[in-house]
Amino acid sequence: MLFNKFDSIQDRILRFGSLPSTNEYCKEKSIPHGAVVIADSQSRGHGRMGRCFSSEAGGLYISFCYRLDGIMPDALLPVTGRCAVAVIRSLRKLCGIDAEIKWTNDIILRGKKICGILAETVFSSDTKSTPEKLIIGIGINCNQNPHAFEGELKSIASSIFSEIGQTVDLEKLAVLLTEEIDKIFLSISSVPGMENQYTAEYRRYCLTIGKEIKILRPSLCSGEDPRIVFLHSPDIFPSALAVDIDDNFGLIVKHGNGETEVLTYGEVSIR
Ligand code: BTN
Repeated sequence: MLFNKFDSIQDRILRFGSLPSTNEYCKEKSIPHGAVVIADSQSRGHGRMGRCFSSEAGGLYISFCYRLDGIMPDALLPVTGRCAVAVIRSLRKLCGIDAEIKWTNDIILRGKKICGILAETVFSSDTKSTPEKLIIGIGINCNQNPHAFEGELKSIASSIFSEIGQTVDLEKLAVLLTEEIDKIFLSISSVPGMENQYTAEYRRYCLTIGKEIKILRPSLCSGEDPRIVFLHSPDIFPSALAVDIDDNFGLIVKHGNGETEVLTYGEVSIR
């Protein structure tokens, strides 16, 4: 059994009415390997590049905490890409929804972001070179009403309920997702052979491949959200053609001058 301490998935779940952030909880508290932290809402939910992640009641805000026991940082490179596949699989299974992936790891339904993924590592204070804990945080906008996404994010983010009128059973989704995320932990820790399956599935659902894109390099945005800067001044961002995904879920792009680049970080916008 992978997590000796627990008898079942339910047994692993620590549930809260509200937390500042489920990822921060996993970082700060000493919780066992395999623990799953869920909050009905978050007051300081956050995402990549220091952005806020809107976390009103109705969504699934969940973090998975694994001890790494000597797993080296390179093995963690494909984690977020595989997590995107895990979310797609879980939503298909539970809701029959065919969502898509926008590189790097936004899950999109009918053109709007319904899920974000933030994988983080914690290093112990004495051994700074090997990560001690892997924390995978996933926020899925499930049952929120459309008014939960106001202001400039209105055109970017939404929930499953707002898009297709379907109410999602958060408990069932949490269990399905836990099964999928455990498989990813296994794939990086001990069980080889599942790698190609994840990249093939990622490619199948990735709406970015084959598109003309703008590369939203944060360095061009003086600290502002590149997506919002893009809405006002798209021309400051370089264009390229998104060609493929590499084995670590880097985005292979071709620039107008014929040069190829692999993007490993940042964000793109589809033109
Ligand atoms: C992103 O879109 O950049 C990633 C968003 C990740 C949000 C989830 S919600 C659960 C966990 N707790 C957080 O504070 N963030 C992640």
